[in-house]
Amino acid sequence: MSAPGSGTDQITIRMCEGIAELNACVALQKEVWRFDDIDLIPLRMFVVSQKIGGQVIGAFVGKELIGFAFSIPGSRAGHAYLHSHMLAVRDSFRNHGLGRRLKLAQREDAIAKGFELLEWTFDPLEIKNAHLNLCRLGAITRRYSINHYGHSSSPLQGGLPTDRLVAEWWIKSKRVVNLLEKNQSPDFKVEQRIEVPAQIYTWKASDIDRPKAAEVQKRNREQLRAAFSQGLVALGYERDAQDNGAFLLGYWDENWSYASSETD
Ligand SMILES: CC(C)(COP(=O)(O)OP(=O)(O)OC[C@H]1O[C@@H](n2cnc3c(N)ncnc32)[C@H](O)[C@@H]1OP(=O)(O)O)[C@@H](O)C(=O)NCCC(=O)NCCS
Repeated sequence: MSAPGSGTDQITIRMCEGIAELNACVALQKEVWRFDDIDLIPLRMFVVSQKIGGQVIGAFVGKELIGFAFSIPGSRAGHAYLHSHMLAVRDSFRNHGLGRRLKLAQREDAIAKGFELLEWTFDPLEIKNAHLNLCRLGAITRRYSINHYGHSSSPLQGGLPTDRLVAEWWIKSKRVVNLLEKNQSPDFKVEQRIEVPAQIYTWKASDIDRPKAAEVQKRNREQLRAAFSQGLVALGYERDAQDNGAFLLGYWDENWSYASSETD
């Protein structure tokens, strides 16, 4: 396995091509999530995604795939959008901005195809993902789905219910354009903070401490759902020096929405 080396500038981000590269995505998926085979997205689905207007974007060192972003087209209230189902970066290449670069490539391709919205779900207990989604990409979240996938075989889930937040990435919104194209972080009045302790990762991984993780999940589920029902939106995320995280909720001053009767 290659290491990051002198820099990530030698990493190419491009559309995956051909069966071998799609098979490499399936293998990397297994490596990153350590799913049982029954939970893996199979090769055929990656093929289908490419054929129906989805995206399979890879990060490559030479010919070696070290990350990918996978999305499929969806429709809500008569509007087409992209649902990004997976973002993965090989462990030894993380925290070098590759996850962000893969998402930016998704955005560029989505704009070229005429989309305004990319959505994906993320675990509200994952501090790193929340920071990447809300602060570095400018996504927002205002929908909470309880036990979204049912049981997951991935150890990353720690046996907890698969609660998920829906990230909405309005790729042409003022918020996203200012952040990504002018480096201006969005300004908003913080009405509520909802906290995630840094120990969440060790608690999820430990049989003894897992009830503490479950308690945080339950508390935050209630708080986030109550806040969303009052029209609050998670617009920011804060990390402190001890790596604790906190959702920052406020009212969004833009009105991007594909209104829907769906609750998830
Ligand atoms: C999520 C994932 C794709 C991110 O890839 P990556 O290449 O590490 O992402 P980036 O380097 O672009 O961004 C990570 C950010 O999180 C920050 N971060 C790293 N560890 C962190 C932690 N423990 N807590 C909070 N933030 C953290 C990094 O500093 C970076 O932020 P910065 O750009 O402000 O410095 C990767 O971690 C992964 O494959 N995870 C497992 C699968 C997964 O959870 N996928 C997403 C859901 S589908």
